[in-house]
Amino acid sequence: MKIFVDSADVAKIRRLSEAGLIDGVTTNPSLIAKSGAEFLPTIRELAAMVEGPVSAEVAATDYDTMMREAAVLAKIAENVCIKLPLTMDGLRACASIRAEGRETNVTLCFSVTQALLAAKAGATYVSPFVGRLDDLNLEGEQLLHDIRQVYDAYPALQTQILAASLRSANHVSGAALAGADAATIPPDVIERLANHALTDKGLAAFVADWKATGQSIL
Ligand code: G3P
Repeated sequence: MKIFVDSADVAKIRRLSEAGLIDGVTTNPSLIAKSGAEFLPTIRELAAMVEGPVSAEVAATDYDTMMREAAVLAKIAENVCIKLPLTMDGLRACASIRAEGRETNVTLCFSVTQALLAAKAGATYVSPFVGRLDDLNLEGEQLLHDIRQVYDAYPALQTQILAASLRSANHVSGAALAGADAATIPPDVIERLANHALTDKGLAAFVADWKATGQSIL
């Protein structure tokens, strides 16, 4: 499963990128607003920083304006993946942009039928929002399983499942167990994935025992 970082915080993304932990970046208008950063320069910086896709979302909701915005975003760098909302206009824009050979990420997916349409529109990625379904007491992870089942049943559907709105290590392991192709994860959650109380306890014992030997590797 590819790991993307879901953020517009350049410093945090750089740290994870330098650690070799991420395969790409996803942003959205809310993350840009939260970071306080300028959208286009931020996308330019991120696209130069990581080799993989950097999802940049259109702001418009109508097809014509989406296409004009997508043209601006696509000019930034080859690895800018155009992010589009899962609406009829967004799907139409997805099909047009894919016909030009550019990667797309169709976002705000909350159902299997939406994921089916995203695949029919040729989306490179579809982003089901796990956490937001859980917020409503619905089954976010089950949606990932269901989309996986449908995509696997129809090999002509080539869209990759990009699990999104993941807020915990459990969400990430759930996405992996559901067979998601990729997961986009906030930076603090990525860093928490490495933590385990037994790792800390075991390491403390190794450090103490090693010290007691009086030896040195260097
Ligand atoms: O990738 C989409 C993600 O940023 C949404 O997450 O936590 O706002 O539902 P959240």
